[in-house]
Amino acid sequence: MSDIKLVSAQEMLTKAKAGKYAVAQININNLEWTKAVLTTVQELQSPIILGVSEGAGKYMCGFNTVTAMTTAMMKTLGITVPVALHLDHGSYEGAKQALADGFSSIMFDGSHYGIEENIEKTKEIVALAYAKGVSVEAEVGSIGGEEDGVIGGGEVADPEECKKIADLGVTMLAAGIGNIHGVYPPNWTGLNFEVLAKIQELTGTMPLVLHGGTGIPADMIKESISLGVSKINVNTECQLSFAEATRKYIEAGKDREGKGFDPRKLLNPGYEAIKATVKEKLELFGSVGKA
Ligand code: 13P
Repeated sequence: MSDIKLVSAQEMLTKAKAGKYAVAQININNLEWTKAVLTTVQELQSPIILGVSEGAGKYMCGFNTVTAMTTAMMKTLGITVPVALHLDHGSYEGAKQALADGFSSIMFDGSHYGIEENIEKTKEIVALAYAKGVSVEAEVGSIGGEEDGVIGGGEVADPEECKKIADLGVTMLAAGIGNIHGVYPPNWTGLNFEVLAKIQELTGTMPLVLHGGTGIPADMIKESISLGVSKINVNTECQLSFAEATRKYIEAGKDREGKGFDPRKLLNPGYEAIKATVKEKLELFGSVGKA
């Protein structure tokens, strides 16, 4: 098992684009989260991208700790499906740090810069990453909602700008099409498939990324995949199912029964809930059996 290692997201996404399915990016927050995702993808023989935001990286004691934990866990668990460890919404400095700390894929989110500065910085990050065999996700038109204190307004990307960034040779491209991080508000108007189709037309074989996967109805997910989306990010939905299962356990007084307070027991319902959510997403995205 000595060849078990993290891989770039390039190959899994090229296959997904050609095969008309999407690889899930599931964000991780701690050891239990990582173990829940890794064991589920191995059971279902699915490729996976583990997303780590800069905030989650700090929480887990730095990207170096995340890399060490993930690779050690993959070896111990005998994980043979393709796993990419991916920086989610990386800043310019954060992207460089993740590269230094052994991530196999990075997102450089230059969407808050003007398009020219976004292009310059993306170019630099692409050169640094490709020298290490690391895949790169770029973003055009910020994704709405709140993530790690960054708030956007459900923006829609300009397809021409998407083409400019895609032409820099990035591995995958995130483009805002009315998607939002977190739970969708009741007055959400849905995804803009007209813009997605235009972006797909201009960027050809480039795998497109859909952020804000939590709560997007199944028919919209399917339609996105048919229009070139090959990577879908999910974070909040696992957090909600983890919290719900943990709350039920406590409310049922199970932590007060016997050794129910033992963290290995207390966190188990949440762990199982994450596994169930991940399974549901992999089935919906069509990546089961595609490892
Ligand atoms: P959600 O938290 O809405 O699932 O979005 C996740 C995401 O897009 C991470 O970049």
